[in-house]
Amino acid sequence: MRIFIPLPGNETLAADLARLSSSALGTLETRHFPDGESYIRLTDDVTGKDVDFVCTLARPDDQILQLIFAAKTARELGAKTVRLIAPYLAYMRQDKRFQEGESISSTHFAKLLSDCFDSLITIDPHLHRIADLGEIFTIPTKVKHAAPLLADWIRDNVENALVVGPDSESQQWVEAVAERAGAQRLVLNKNRLGDHEVEILVPDLSDYAGLAPVLVDDIISSGRTMIETAEALIARGFPRPYILTVHALFTGSTYWQLNQLAKDIISTDAVPHETSRIGIAELLL
Ligand code: R5P
Repeated sequence: MRIFIPLPGNETLAADLARLSSSALGTLETRHFPDGESYIRLTDDVTGKDVDFVCTLARPDDQILQLIFAAKTARELGAKTVRLIAPYLAYMRQDKRFQEGESISSTHFAKLLSDCFDSLITIDPHLHRIADLGEIFTIPTKVKHAAPLLADWIRDNVENALVVGPDSESQQWVEAVAERAGAQRLVLNKNRLGDHEVEILVPDLSDYAGLAPVLVDDIISSGRTMIETAEALIARGFPRPYILTVHALFTGSTYWQLNQLAKDIISTDAVPHETSRIGIAELLL
């Protein structure tokens, strides 16, 4: 018997998963002690059950301890399996030591999760220099892709779309999305100069005149990548672009800034946000 248990903030997705799979929906009691430490209590009997903790990791530093305590407690209480459903998997971008002494946090985070869970399912983790999650996780991992969902949204909502990827890392996205949407495609080049500074290199775009730009990326965090890309296209005479992403992290004033430039902003609910118009629950079943 399977039971889905949401970490705080993941109640809607856990309820959808339980409903769609006719499984049980559990609850986790959480609070902080006066000194700020976490209190965790499983309120359901998990003995002999397949326990799925649902936790999108958009705020990993705030979430990881509760997640570890919950997973380890489920094991102690006799769960048959303990799986992590993390639509957004954090800490995948620091996959290399760029400067001496830097922590390659992707490997440490993967090790931490591998120690606590029997398996993991996620959506479009940021895989760049790491080709496969199996390179850093020691547990079975399953990766699902939202590209078909983004493509279908474009096909149903945008005429004469030009699917634009801001950097070479987005090439995989752009190809898959544009192919299914039956749209033209363009991949730009990006130099990242710092956490909040990027430079987008744009070639001659005269062949694409008259098309409606749809910017697609796996993650929007500081938004600098999308802001620079949108500004570059608008400066070259294109209309305000649609902006689509899988993981809407939107730190600080990112969403507000993007709204000044975009015709529309659409994300999946892998990270719930007011732009979430594409549901991913069925991908996780
Ligand atoms: C990295 O290459 C990713 O695909 C995104 O382009 C990047 O994480 C976006 O970050 P930001 O919104 O901070 O520019």
